[in-house]
Amino acid sequence: MTARAPGRVNLIGDHTDYNGGLCLPFAVPMATTTTARTRGDDRLRIRSAAFRDPWTGHLDDLALDARDSIPDWVRYVTGVLWAAREDGWPLAGLDLVVDSELPLGSGLSSSAALECSVAIAVGTLVDRPLDPGSRLSLAELCRRAETEYVGAPTGGMDQLASLLGKPDHAVLIDFADISVRQVPLALHEAGLVVLVTDTGTAHDLAGAGSGYAQRRAECDAAAAALELPRIGLAWADDLSRLDNEVQRSRARHVLSESARVEDTLAALAAGDWATVGDILSASHASLRGDFAASTAALDLAVDTAVDAGALGARLTGGGFGGSTIALVEEERADAVRRAIDVAFADADVKAPTHLTVLPSAGASVNRTG
Ligand code: GLA
Repeated sequence: MTARAPGRVNLIGDHTDYNGGLCLPFAVPMATTTTARTRGDDRLRIRSAAFRDPWTGHLDDLALDARDSIPDWVRYVTGVLWAAREDGWPLAGLDLVVDSELPLGSGLSSSAALECSVAIAVGTLVDRPLDPGSRLSLAELCRRAETEYVGAPTGGMDQLASLLGKPDHAVLIDFADISVRQVPLALHEAGLVVLVTDTGTAHDLAGAGSGYAQRRAECDAAAAALELPRIGLAWADDLSRLDNEVQRSRARHVLSESARVEDTLAALAAGDWATVGDILSASHASLRGDFAASTAALDLAVDTAVDAGALGARLTGGGFGGSTIALVEEERADAVRRAIDVAFADADVKAPTHLTVLPSAGASVNRTG
């Protein structure tokens, strides 16, 4: 049984998911695969092509208080098994082999791809198959693994994008009620690609000290000050009632970012790619300014891409390192890529790596694999 779950790029709508706002990610062609086999005993054997030594353990090791002795990358796998057991899946001993085409920590959601591929492979083995009705609950199971077990307080966008992606479509997610809609995003037909530039500074979302966790805490504090469950549910008028300037800026980003997702939908419906590009760049300005989630390398990649002729560019995902995206005409992609390389070399910054991506298929199972 082999399951494949892709990474994602977020076209727009960052730091909105855990705040009850809107986002518009799409699945990328690169994926993580997990092959799962049941064993005759209650042992667990987890191997990754990226690490030499397999991890071996026992079903009893899946308790929350046993996770500290488990290596970091394995926790994304055992976290899914833990959440599955909490949900009543009848797990027995398993051999799992994972392999990924996604660079770790690059901002393309390698962790969500790993979690989703494990959840689907194991789910199929224990009669929890991947079907249209189960995708939302599998995404939630994987989010809980990441938040409650691994300790990365992420919001659920990545898992939904990996599970629900579709070629030539983005996934509109409204986190006010976790409703989902497919939005046509025919980049290829429009002669466009998304150029992903990985700045090579891995972002770490786990742990209370991460920039991501700090931003989330600031947003939660802003919501509490307005007596709302989540700051994305505020109205723009409410912001003046926030006395704390930092909380006000973070909240302003969240509300303006959801509004930009709506503006993007309108521009896409009108086929107005120039406006889509402008909105992406405005998103970056907000993530850099109000949300303070950018880095010098991310800013350099974004500014250089736009100067070199991209329609627009922004950091994608959590920020604090990771990747940028640039919306660019296919024939200009190489020139933009080269301009970024030259700018990084001139600034004496570690050379970035690039990929071009188009919206691709979401997770799937190969029963004979
Ligand atoms: C990371 C998290 C997501 C989301 C983004 C920011 O990718 O995993 O849940 O919060 O950052 O939009």
